[in-house]
Amino acid sequence: YQSAQPFPFEKSPSAVAAAEREALLRNPGFGRVFTDHMVTMRYSQEHGWHDGKIGPRGAFPLDPATLVLHYGQEIFEGMKAYRLPDGGASLFRPDANARRFRSSAERLAMAPLPEELFLQSVRALVRTERDWIPAAEGASLYIRPFMFATEVLLGVKPSAEYLYCIIASPVGSYFKSGAPAVTLWVSETYTRAAPGGTGAAKCGGNYAASLAAQAEATAEGCEQVVFLDAVERRWVEELGGMNVFFVFDDGSLQTPPLGGTILPGITRDSLIVLARDLGLTVREEPYAIDQWQADARSGRLTEAFACGTAAVVTPIGTVKGRRHGFTIGEGGAGPVAARLKAALLDIQNGRAPDRHGWLDRL
Ligand code: COI
Repeated sequence: YQSAQPFPFEKSPSAVAAAEREALLRNPGFGRVFTDHMVTMRYSQEHGWHDGKIGPRGAFPLDPATLVLHYGQEIFEGMKAYRLPDGGASLFRPDANARRFRSSAERLAMAPLPEELFLQSVRALVRTERDWIPAAEGASLYIRPFMFATEVLLGVKPSAEYLYCIIASPVGSYFKSGAPAVTLWVSETYTRAAPGGTGAAKCGGNYAASLAAQAEATAEGCEQVVFLDAVERRWVEELGGMNVFFVFDDGSLQTPPLGGTILPGITRDSLIVLARDLGLTVREEPYAIDQWQADARSGRLTEAFACGTAAVVTPIGTVKGRRHGFTIGEGGAGPVAARLKAALLDIQNGRAPDRHGWLDRL
């Protein structure tokens, strides 16, 4: 890293008055309100990572032949900063995001960002924007680090230059409806990722590939799509933008295993640990869509829930599809999801002991 001072802060006044910010923080929605500053840093083969700074948030001028616009070399992360009871701020497992960002870069043949630089840059932005962390329960400051190919060229090859950037957005709940549970649509038309593909990388292309299926779900009156595996079209993989868990009447939990086609969620991993802390059995094993339907109908399955940084823990009420239609339990929030969500939020918001050393206090 070639700057005397990492992430120097370019002083710029906030475009938003304090009173206006307080109003925005009360009901931010998801991803519509943005803070004043952003981190940027460049990579070139000649200079490595350089020119890291925090400046006013603004547009990028892009040449029309910029590689990302043609071949899609782009990756991102999603993480949150939380307000602590003492007024301080924390990040949750940012080292895990740094690691995943590096492995996403490797899968997309992009220049990996050293994990320490990722951590320094995220911490620097959150410190700068700490007034934008909402205090309301369930609200947080969503941090979006991303990186894309900036070389100007139409040849299909890994870019020699990249721009890394972090923006931040105060957020409330990801789902608009505020309903206690979401409804899912099982896609028989589309799959998300095939073995050997980019399913485990957090790249924009995976989300682009999910949108037609997600649109199908929306047209069917559902909030999220369920993807099945690309080979047998039998195993539940994940939802459009979140992982999935199943809860059984013996108290055990199950979630699809990470096999390269599923996004390795940090919330997913944390919930496995927290469930085991609570004495629950968790299996990382494939679960067939037909079994899901049979178990929901027999009552062997008592709950299912989606999880992710954005979604936190969101109960699944009803599942629909061309060959499927079933409701889980009473179709609302269940006790195991509620318990796990509370355990997670209590750690993230500094209300419970941080036994696993997951909090990064700023
Ligand atoms: C996240 O959960 O942070 C994601 O990146 C997924 C997206 C649905 C917002």
